[in-house]
Amino acid sequence: MIAQEKIEEAVRRLFSTLEFTREPEGLYDPLRYMVSIGGKRLRPRLCLTVYSLFNDTLGPEILGPAAGLEVFHTFTLIHDDIMDRSLMRRGHETVWKKWSPDTAILSGDVMCIDAYKRIAQAPSGCLGAVLDLFSTTAAQVCDGQQYDMDYEQVKAITMQEYLKMIGLKTGVLMGCSAKMGALVASAPAEIANGMYDYGYNLGLAFQVADDYLDAYGDVKVFGKPIGGDIVNGKKSWLTVRAMEKGAKGLSEALASDEDPDKKIDRVMEIYDSVHVAEDARETIARFHEKALSAASKVTGIGGYEVLKQFADDLVDRVR
Ligand code: IPE
Ligand code: IPE
Ligand code: MG
Ligand code: MG
Ligand code: MG
Repeated sequence: MIAQEKIEEAVRRLFSTLEFTREPEGLYDPLRYMVSIGGKRLRPRLCLTVYSLFNDTLGPEILGPAAGLEVFHTFTLIHDDIMDRSLMRRGHETVWKKWSPDTAILSGDVMCIDAYKRIAQAPSGCLGAVLDLFSTTAAQVCDGQQYDMDYEQVKAITMQEYLKMIGLKTGVLMGCSAKMGALVASAPAEIANGMYDYGYNLGLAFQVADDYLDAYGDVKVFGKPIGGDIVNGKKSWLTVRAMEKGAKGLSEALASDEDPDKKIDRVMEIYDSVHVAEDARETIARFHEKALSAASKVTGIGGYEVLKQFADDLVDRVR
């Protein structure tokens, strides 16, 4: 077992020393920019935390893949911001806005390739399983992102469709991050799969929280513009739940192209009228519970406490 402070320190060191090819600057500057403006680095921390349950030191065999997970996640954000027409990320201008959409596409592409190189630093004994897990996950994230965009164009979706979509765009990468820590640590398959379920459910809790904060968060803390999902007509958790509760006029309000501030006010009024904010908090707590139940099936008391702390910290931003 490795103390959490040591993991935090390793994550800090890892990203302060992360290197990318220097030239051409127009291609690599956006990568350095995205890494330098930070982010919560949840996925590498999750991977290292699971690995630490089985090991006493953090060597390159796990630090490389852990960095790869964050580089991959950051690549998805660069492309997501083009797709979502977002102007702010991590409290700073988005790459497509600061440079151009063309630069954001190519810098994102090279970042995805860089992620593979880092993931491939996993030890040869588990490399096949690690690459298989990662490639499957990466394709699933694209599937989820396509559903997310498709759903902008439809009037309504069911909660089941919503959960499938966020499972793909967000859940699988968290599941993959946790499982990768177990695979590199040569943990038995049953434990590795339990870690996947833990990470996947945490990912669902996390995306519902992200949807909640997109409407009810504070821009200074959230680092992204508030109301972006509403302006884009996204089928967020709040939308789907409000429709389930029979909110009137919501699909018309979301589809309208009126002034963004007016649109946000109108939709927020509908959300408040059916109290979906409270429901979101309950749902986050339910996925948090599911994650812990998956963890408790495959870990001893010491390990469970570590994973519970990680999960508590993750959902704390909305509790
Ligand atoms: C943002 O992820 C995208 C979602 C899955 C909601 P994070 O909230 O982990 O983004 P950073 O890395 O901390 O900026
Ligand atoms: C993004 O979901 C998920 C991925 C990047 C794969 P969102 O579009 O909600 O993420 P944010 O809110 O822009 O970070
Ligand atoms: Mg998106
Ligand atoms: Mg987005
Ligand atoms: Mg969001």
